[in-house]
Amino acid sequence: MSLPKILYQCQSCGYTSPKWLGKCPDCGAWNSFAEEQRLTKLRKQETSKPVALSDISHSTANRHSTEIKEFDRTLGGGVVPGSVVLIGGDPGIGKSTLLLQALKGLAKLGKVLYVSGEESPEQIMIRADRLKVKSGDIMLLPETSLEGIISVAQDINPQVIVIDSIQTIFSIELPSAPGSVGQIRDCATKLMFFAKKHGTPLFIIGHVTKEGAIAGPRVLEHIVDTVLYFEGDKGAPFRILRAVKNRFGPTNEIGVFEMTESGLKEVDNPSQLFLSEKPVKVPGSVITASLEGTRPLLVEIQSLVSTSNFGVPRRTALGVDYNRVNLLIAVLDKRIGMHLGSMDIFVNVVGGLKIDEPAADMAIIAAIGSSFKNAPIDSGTFVFGEVGLSGELRAISQAEIRIKEAAKLGLKRGLIPKGNAKNLKETGIEVIGVKNVEEALEILFF
Ligand code: TYD
Ligand code: MG
Repeated sequence: MSLPKILYQCQSCGYTSPKWLGKCPDCGAWNSFAEEQRLTKLRKQETSKPVALSDISHSTANRHSTEIKEFDRTLGGGVVPGSVVLIGGDPGIGKSTLLLQALKGLAKLGKVLYVSGEESPEQIMIRADRLKVKSGDIMLLPETSLEGIISVAQDINPQVIVIDSIQTIFSIELPSAPGSVGQIRDCATKLMFFAKKHGTPLFIIGHVTKEGAIAGPRVLEHIVDTVLYFEGDKGAPFRILRAVKNRFGPTNEIGVFEMTESGLKEVDNPSQLFLSEKPVKVPGSVITASLEGTRPLLVEIQSLVSTSNFGVPRRTALGVDYNRVNLLIAVLDKRIGMHLGSMDIFVNVVGGLKIDEPAADMAIIAAIGSSFKNAPIDSGTFVFGEVGLSGELRAISQAEIRIKEAAKLGLKRGLIPKGNAKNLKETGIEVIGVKNVEEALEILFF
């Protein structure tokens, strides 16, 4: 018996079924199935020959600079020839702006191709004017057909290709609509083959869906070499470019930008920026030294603790893990005797930043404790350290560069895990090693 030609595929996770389903049994999404065609013909494979490791040249080491330092850093030091980079983010966050600015630098290599399925050349021109990008080497292509794009790319042989966005591109070989999982996967794969064959770096822009995932994400994230997320609060001017996967560099590396009237500006000293509006002598605010990739970042963590008017008190965590906050509240309750059971507790990382390392534990505890006791923490002090369930403060990685960053910004005192303080060289500021949460709070508040 032959397999049916049509199958149904979940548009949020890629699960396939021979019948239409209302709810995806894999990811639980409702009404997410769309018709796709099963690929019955096996694609003709181009075969490769094995090469000796010693014969491989260092061509991937020749990175190209976008001339945007923060962008190069996130990519792991520049654009690698033949690499495929996916840039995801909310609509309107500035993905098109970032890439147009990057093309300005990359156009020095020769012709670069900017494929836009969303905007007309006039619209892009208006943006380019704002960004002061004026180069005869940036070729605009308003096109949504994959076959058309590949044939143009073969003609002009560009140094870099940008696809804005993958959701608007479709291949005539597939019957499904642009933006469906099948189309996204197929188009991205064919573009990738082109990029690898010609050694052309390829940037693919992908919009994020409401659920916070790039449409067709699972399939795309595996195909591409590098996944960058462009994130930030649309209300605030700061934007963070974060590497979540990188075959050519470290992950978790970030680049910090500010959106201005004339495009994205690099932020050289993000710690200063994130601390610039820190209130002085206000309870519930504390500085922590976090590490993003290889870069130390000082951020302010705030908390507000107030009596709840409802039976079940509210717990809100913005920028830190919700479950982690609940765990730390339990530690405060049980080990320190702070009765927070009837309190609403809000925790926030200032500047729209997200921190997901346990080094921020101590800062979350200090902020909650400070708000609960209504006792401000000295604004020249920073804290970090992982908190265990018995209230002990555990050592974390790379304490020294965190402390150096704090010293650079003029902070005077650091409360850190005893394990980290033991083997620390001279840092120029007062460093206090503490054993547990109780000891830390004692020092902070008395
Ligand atoms: P855009 O790059 O179009 O976002 P995306 O491609 O991610 O959808 O950015 C659009 C937003 O950026 C829009 O709200 C206007 C703002 N913007 C500026 O503030 N300054 C600028 O110089 C530019 C070009 C855009
Ligand atoms: Mg755009």
